[in-house]
Amino acid sequence: MPSNGKVARFNAMERTVHWMVAISFLYAALTGLAIWSHKLYWLAAVFGGGPTVRGMHPWGGVVFAVALGLIFRNWRSQMGLDADDRVWLAKSHRYAVHDEEGVPESGRFNAGQKMLFWMQSLFAVLLFASGMVLWWPEAAPRTLRLAAVLIHPLAAIGSIGGIIVHIYMGTAAVPGALRAMVRGWVTPAWAASHHAKWYRDVRKN
Ligand code: HEM
Repeated sequence: MPSNGKVARFNAMERTVHWMVAISFLYAALTGLAIWSHKLYWLAAVFGGGPTVRGMHPWGGVVFAVALGLIFRNWRSQMGLDADDRVWLAKSHRYAVHDEEGVPESGRFNAGQKMLFWMQSLFAVLLFASGMVLWWPEAAPRTLRLAAVLIHPLAAIGSIGGIIVHIYMGTAAVPGALRAMVRGWVTPAWAASHHAKWYRDVRKN
């Protein structure tokens, strides 16, 4: 139930794990981009220089993989798509232009957020597996090494693209969302307008 006009949305553990994921992802992504392209090598200076970046990038990836594993454990059971979510996805073009007629109400997470969760989880597995091969190339056969050289940057581009959209949605596009992830609560009006089904359940309990 809302108390003092606040509806609890994310508990301290969820927020801590989310920010661990966000910081480790940004570190691994930016140091990875510095190694990947000479045009982006200037990024290395920001993170302590070339050798530091080369040595620390895989460790950033390990922290990210562990943190993502924790987020996965926390939220996996809430991220299954139901019948309303499938309709939501079919009508997501309407959601994008704020014409929500016929777009079903959302539960705690909308179908777009659920897709982001599964997409980032899949990319994380691909990044981690290919990253391990690139970290210890002598331990892997040639075909696996070639696959890793291809998969690692492709999965990185996919996940960075997804996170750019996610950061935009979580900050500029949906005012009030960032406060939920920083302070843990939203207003009743926010809950009713963005996650009406979830808000009804919260009020019942
Ligand atoms: C600076 C970077 C980031 C910002 C500002 C940010 C912001 C947010 C916000 C505001 C929410 C809550 C949305 C709501 O209440 O409905 C959220 C949820 C979430 N975040 Fe992030 N996030 C960032 C990075 C990341 C990264 C790197 C990942 C994963 C690789 C991630 C995965 C998630 C997931 C799975 C959720 C739950 C579903 C969703 O709301 O999309 N976030 N984030």
